[in-house]
Amino acid sequence: MSGLPEKDQNLALVLQLLAPTQQSGNTLWLVDENLPVASLMTVPGAASITAVTNRYDISADLQAKGVTTLLCDFDFSGLGSYQRIVYRISKEKMLVHHCINQAIRQLSDDGELFIIGNKQDGLKSIAKNAAQTYGQKNNTQKLGNSYLASFTRPANLSDEQMLPSNHYGTLRQVQHKEITFQSKPGVFGWEKVDRGSELLTTVLPTIRRYMKSVSSVLDLGCGWGYLMLATRDWDVETRCATDNNIAAVEAARTNFADHGLTVDCVADDCASNIRGRFDLILCNPPFHQGFAVSDTLTEKFLAAASRLSRRSTRAIFVVNQFVPLEKHAEKYFSACRLLLAEDGFRVYELRP
Ligand SMILES: C[S@@+](CC[C@H](N)C(=O)[O-])C[C@H]1O[C@@H](n2cnc3c(N)ncnc32)[C@H](O)[C@@H]1O
Repeated sequence: MSGLPEKDQNLALVLQLLAPTQQSGNTLWLVDENLPVASLMTVPGAASITAVTNRYDISADLQAKGVTTLLCDFDFSGLGSYQRIVYRISKEKMLVHHCINQAIRQLSDDGELFIIGNKQDGLKSIAKNAAQTYGQKNNTQKLGNSYLASFTRPANLSDEQMLPSNHYGTLRQVQHKEITFQSKPGVFGWEKVDRGSELLTTVLPTIRRYMKSVSSVLDLGCGWGYLMLATRDWDVETRCATDNNIAAVEAARTNFADHGLTVDCVADDCASNIRGRFDLILCNPPFHQGFAVSDTLTEKFLAAASRLSRRSTRAIFVVNQFVPLEKHAEKYFSACRLLLAEDGFRVYELRP
């Protein structure tokens, strides 16, 4: 398992136990940012599985490695049945419950669903509830610092036999101060406006006043689209929004349409397929990748913003106060000005 981060090494060992074999039949893996593709690919026969993921970067990576991959918001409606389904549980409980509910329905009569997770991920209580819901014995095992549990499809599976998932797949209306939007579990901060993003929008009227013209705006890591929506009254020619999470892109598209905005809204890994330059780039970069805190993402977002900038571009970033944005930005921007520091967040203006 050399080359894998230490925290993933035990998990990678557990995955080996679930390597597809002739007896295990056709295999489906549910993959999000908590199952590193590098770990998955150490499993013998990994290229023969089918994967479902809600992340663009994972889908692109798996496809490049020859794995048949479906990119969707864990909507299994187009899939057949599987003898083995493997799921390294996600961070958000409603998503975990949704995936388990869906996976159980996708099992063939002799099929088996395996869920795995590390000690802190809450797997033990999830497995206990699932065993109760499906009327099965809880068989959770501890393997190093990971846990593994398995389930079969109950003989008479009823529609009521579901772990609570708060209608995971459905968009719903949320109201925050003067803004109404559609969102759902699985999207970053789905039922609120992020305080950092809200602070970023307070500087926009000033930015707009001193920039001569703003004819193109990019919302980089758009979530359900809040930052772009903050420009909804502006006369802008080209709007583009992008996120790695397919659930976010779907919610953002709905919100832009509902607010009458024409936005090219695409799933992508840090805008890697987006060409052109933007007058204004808005960004609240992630600092978590699933269960892990990640500093490398900040740099990746800065590099993308720099690539999509021209000399007159202004990129407005908001970060938690402990993220050393100035330090990272030095490599990509000639000036990094602190505009606002409040409630533990910092809003910066970056100039190429
Ligand atoms: C802190 S949230 C901000 C969301 C939104 N802009 C807002 O203000 O509510 C960061 C967003 O970046 C997205 N993201 C994470 N990794 C990404 C990547 N590699 N490429 C594009 N977006 C990514 C996440 O899905 C999340 O929606």
